[in-house]
Order: sequence, then structure tokens, then C-alpha cells
Amino acid sequence: MPLVFSLFIIFAKTFKYNVMQKIISPSLLSADFLHLADDITMLNESQADWYHLDIMDGVFVPNISYGIPVVQAINKMATKPLDVHLMIVDPDRYFEAFKEAGASIITFHYEASTHVHRSVQKIKSLGIKAGVVLNPHTPVSVLEDILGDLDLVLLMSVNPGFGGQKFIERTYSKVEKLRDMIDKNGYNTLIEVDGGVNTENAPKLFAAGANALVAGNAVFKSEDPKKTIELLKL
Ligand code: DX5
Ligand code: ZN
Repeated sequence: MPLVFSLFIIFAKTFKYNVMQKIISPSLLSADFLHLADDITMLNESQADWYHLDIMDGVFVPNISYGIPVVQAINKMATKPLDVHLMIVDPDRYFEAFKEAGASIITFHYEASTHVHRSVQKIKSLGIKAGVVLNPHTPVSVLEDILGDLDLVLLMSVNPGFGGQKFIERTYSKVEKLRDMIDKNGYNTLIEVDGGVNTENAPKLFAAGANALVAGNAVFKSEDPKKTIELLKL
């Protein structure tokens, strides 16, 4: 390949990543449930782009979080899209209910769905964005034949179920691989990363090709959550 062409590719890639919007989706799992309204107000005023809502059923993951009434309540105050992450078995049963509760994005686990293509189409037929989530052990290659249908892929960088866990380093290479698959095919699919994200690994994840980062503890346990959201975008 002529040098000038290689340089152009490098420039185009760098430029594209730099102009890509950096989306931050704070996870309300780490919010103060006794003062949820205060935390929503803080997020409304912050540079956060989405609200990440973790729905856990105690079966797919070993924890139970909150359900539809809480999502409805958050939706009454939230001024930005609700990014609903379903960690539940047989997720299709609840797509419509979460859409009605206010979800703009619904992601469900590849590991929890038998007919992933059907599930994706079902979410899209509700007029909202659809995404598939991969656990740390699931390779990105399983998405090869469905990637073009997805609005986003959520890569878990911890084992799902709890906030405040340690980031799994292997996630960087998964992001890079997935970014390659998306770009080579000219898809618009977004890459979101969830688990153990902080101000130290965020720039590296964006550089690897991620578009959106979920952050729970890093935001809500910091002294200045609004400032932390700004720092996550640097
Ligand atoms: C974990 C959830 C995450 C969690 C992230 O199962 O999917 O969204 O709230 O929390 P942190 O950022 O603290 O790892
Ligand atoms: Zn999540």
C-alpha cells in the first residue's frame, strides 16, 4: 500500500474517533435510592448523555435491582434517554413494558436469548433502539451475522450483577475487534462498555473505538459527580 494512502487511513481513523461523540451513561444502580430525585436532577444538569438503568432478576444474575415502577418514576424527571440494560432471562416478555415505562434504548443479553434476531426485531418494532449485551466470556464474533441490525452492542467489562467491580483488561481488545468488524462493513452500530469504568480507563476505551461508557461507582461515589462526568469525556 502506498505510504500516502496508509497515512490517509490513519488520519481518517483518528479524525473519525476524535469527532465521534463521547457518550456517558451513568448507572443509577450506584445512586442514592433514598434521594433518587436529587441524583436525577444532578444528571439532568450534568454532561451525562443517557441514564443507564440496570434491571436484574436474581436468576440471570445473582442480584435483584429494581423494576418497572422505578423506571416509570425516573422517566417522569429524566430529561435524557433511558438506556435500559436487561439482565433477565427470557427478556422478550418485558420489552413492551419497559418501552411503556420510558426506555429509549433496550439492551438484552446474548446469553439470555434463544432467538436473538427475533428479539432485536421486536425491540425495533416498538420504535426504540435495540442492543445486544455480551458477557466477558462471549466473543464478539458471535455477532457477525446480526451486527448490521443492531443500534448498539454493550460489552460487559465485569461479570454482570453488581456495581463497583474491577475492570477486566481484556475488554480493550474486544472493543478493537468489534470496532474493526463495524467499520469494515460500514455499519453505524455503537459500542458501549459497562463495568469498572473510571477516569483512568475511559480515554483508552474511547481510543480503542468505544462510543459510550457506563459508569456507576466512578460517578456516584466521587466527591464531584458532575465534574467526574466531564472528566470521563476527556
Ligand atoms: C453491572 C451493571 C453495571 C453497573 C456498573 O452488572 O450492568 O451497569 O452498575 O457499575 P460500576 O461502574 O460501578 O462498575
Ligand atoms: Zn449495566
